[in-house]
Amino acid sequence: MGGSIQSSMTETTAPDLSSGGVGLSSVETKSRQRLDMEGMAEASEKAGLSGTGATDEGFRRVLQSAAASILAAETFRKPYPLILFRDFFPGDFYARLLQRFPEVDRFAGLNGDGTRREYALYDESSDPGSEEGRELWSIVRRVLASSEVADALREKLDEGFRIRSRRSGEGWPVPMHPRPVLYTDLNGYAIKPHPDTRRKVLTMQIYLPQDEAQRELGTAIYKVSPMGVFAWKSYGLVKDRTVPFLPNSGYAFVVIHPAYSLLRSSWHGREAINVPVERPRLSILNTYYRNPAPERTTGM
Ligand SMILES: [Fe+2]
Repeated sequence: MGGSIQSSMTETTAPDLSSGGVGLSSVETKSRQRLDMEGMAEASEKAGLSGTGATDEGFRRVLQSAAASILAAETFRKPYPLILFRDFFPGDFYARLLQRFPEVDRFAGLNGDGTRREYALYDESSDPGSEEGRELWSIVRRVLASSEVADALREKLDEGFRIRSRRSGEGWPVPMHPRPVLYTDLNGYAIKPHPDTRRKVLTMQIYLPQDEAQRELGTAIYKVSPMGVFAWKSYGLVKDRTVPFLPNSGYAFVVIHPAYSLLRSSWHGREAINVPVERPRLSILNTYYRNPAPERTTGM
């Protein structure tokens, strides 16, 4: 690990957990309307997606669960501020979500070797294919776009925001605009250690396995080796921990680029996964950007 870290440190080439790190095809962005979540929420209202009492009740219940999960998360200060949360969705809702998981042909192929497919949750054009699916995933969208979830993240990751803010010049509070995406990772998916692009303010991933059998497939958290700091171009990274890939759980951190703090940069990655075709690695990546609705993102 760490041999080619430097290339990850520029904005333009930074690979990303969600991009697969390989050149994105133009298919990924050009055909899609980029809507900020606020605009999307308005579109949902107009379409009547949140108009029924039952849906609103469901939304509030899921929102409460999500915010409580974040506020109860286990917190780590090193190597960089990180939270690990459990029971993000209500248990019965989680089971229904997995049953109504969009069919794989509704995902777009994304990375160069085809090991990661994405399904935009910020985009109303994504259709999970059934009435119940539309209702459930609409609730997920709204919850992930909510100010309640953002506020809970700000509270739990306050130190990360402060480290970032001291050098980022973004003001306070640091702006954050959510863009949730659903991912299906196939056999061989991998991403080298990287800190995430500075356009991203906060990275949050919710793992969606059926059971605990995939617990080894989580995200690796890296720390900078103290001995390596002095060798600027190749400073070494050491794996600090691997987040367990457990049902209905996940992690979140504020993106701390080496330009903001060398020793507490948010290095993370994933070694190649080994999964059978019928059991891909499923997750939601809810990335918050500093600007609303970015155009062409190479490191989404
Ligand atoms: Fe990443």
